[in-house]
Amino acid sequence: VNTWSVARAHTNIALIKYWGKRDEKLFLPTSPSLSLTLDSLYTDTRVRFDPKLSSDELWLAGEKQDDKSTVKITRVIDLFRARYSVPEQTPRMRVESVNHVPTAAGLASSSSGFAALAWALRDAFESAFPQTVAMDDRELSTFARRGSGSATRSIFGGFVEWSYGTGSNDSCAIPVDDARWDVAMVLAAISTQHKKISSTYGMKHTAETSSFYSLWREASEQDLATVREGIRERDIDKIGAAMEANCMKFHATMFAANPPFTYLTSRSWRVIEFVHEMRDSGLSVYFTMDAGPNVKILCRASEQQFVHDKLAERFPEITLFDALPGSGPETLSKD
Ligand code: DP6
Repeated sequence: VNTWSVARAHTNIALIKYWGKRDEKLFLPTSPSLSLTLDSLYTDTRVRFDPKLSSDELWLAGEKQDDKSTVKITRVIDLFRARYSVPEQTPRMRVESVNHVPTAAGLASSSSGFAALAWALRDAFESAFPQTVAMDDRELSTFARRGSGSATRSIFGGFVEWSYGTGSNDSCAIPVDDARWDVAMVLAAISTQHKKISSTYGMKHTAETSSFYSLWREASEQDLATVREGIRERDIDKIGAAMEANCMKFHATMFAANPPFTYLTSRSWRVIEFVHEMRDSGLSVYFTMDAGPNVKILCRASEQQFVHDKLAERFPEITLFDALPGSGPETLSKD
């Protein structure tokens, strides 16, 4: 029971965005979303029961975290304690996590963090309480969801949908396609600054005040259907065009919030304009952006190097990260 359970989970980038909760406590989304899990950005997390602790502890890259961050972890661990009917006297947990995501590049994401945590916790609780009914990956994704919405989708590799669900039990991730065909991403890390407006706050403010919000939800359904179709047909241009359109509408909801705000910076726009330029020259390149200034570019794996070189030549000051479709989380070690 006192050995470490160690897991690795990969970051995902949403092609169809999650942007709003219909239930804040349960992290139920206002619309379905769809993402691509990436191979090169991931979090390693280890957990163990520690009889010396009076409350759960969280260590990030070797540094002990304050109560505010630890509370979020405890919230997720408590779900496992309930699921595995853990006796009162069971020791608290020590959680240690390292992001192999360039945090300083503003690409750190809670998606890989909470997915790795959930995966490691399942291993730890299964070893400690083997008589409990096993938890499958879909159920596990509903636990990762309660840490951070986007983490739901990192429980699977490739293209993954997070379904709206009727309630907490079926608002889960569903693997759509392993994406092991001509698909890749190049991430342009525009700013190293921490986000000014967190996604949690940004989506709440937008859902509550934006006059474009209901339009966004309707349009999202249509964009999702198009992306699904593109995946079935392995048509990167169909996927990319719908992804880009969804991204534009997503950012438009914030322009129409009260007060309005945006994550787009002048540098983001310069990269976006260059993506258009590359596309005019015949490349299959499409962009998306999340709750920050970084631009994520979807392209063919066979053209990734070329796209990378073009971007590097045009924007020598911007750090680029190449990624291919990644797999779901893996157990690195357990009892
Ligand atoms: C723009 O999952 O970070 O990246 O559920 O409040 O933790 P919380 O939010 P989070 O939001 C991600 C928003 C997004 C779009 C997406 O990943 O779908």
